[in-house]
Amino acid sequence: RKNMGFGHCKPQNTFLHDSFQNVTAVCELLSITCKNGLHNCHQSLKPVNMTDCRLTSGNYPQCRYSTAAKYKFFIIACEGNPTITISFSGDIKGST
Ligand SMILES: *[C@@H]1O[C@H](CO)[C@@H](O)[C@H](O)[C@H]1NC(C)=O
Ligand SMILES: *[C@@H]1O[C@H](CO)[C@@H](O)[C@H](O)[C@H]1NC(C)=O
Repeated sequence: RKNMGFGHCKPQNTFLHDSFQNVTAVCELLSITCKNGLHNCHQSLKPVNMTDCRLTSGNYPQCRYSTAAKYKFFIIACEGNPTITISFSGDIKGST
């Protein structure tokens, strides 16, 4: 029910179970290269719980998703100074 697209069903969305403050703090960490080749990505110091939602069926606004709980490090892209935009870039295998 949460921000899953406007006018269409978003194919995939990931929710980080963390505070906004904790996520933005990751923007202050060392930069790494993003999948798109830019260098404004940052990896979390600790794994966090997250919920991965993948579209299975339905038409907007009746989008149906399957969900998967994960415990992983995450990578985000941060833009602006001070940081204004953050987008989720991916996750990498956690320690558990
Ligand atoms: C934010 O980070 C602190 C320190 O790691 C942690 O104790 C706290 O649980 C985190 N907040 C949330 C909402 O997960
Ligand atoms: C992550 O989720 C698991 C399973 O629900 C829970 O046992 C654990 O306490 C959570 N960890 C954090 C850091 O919130």
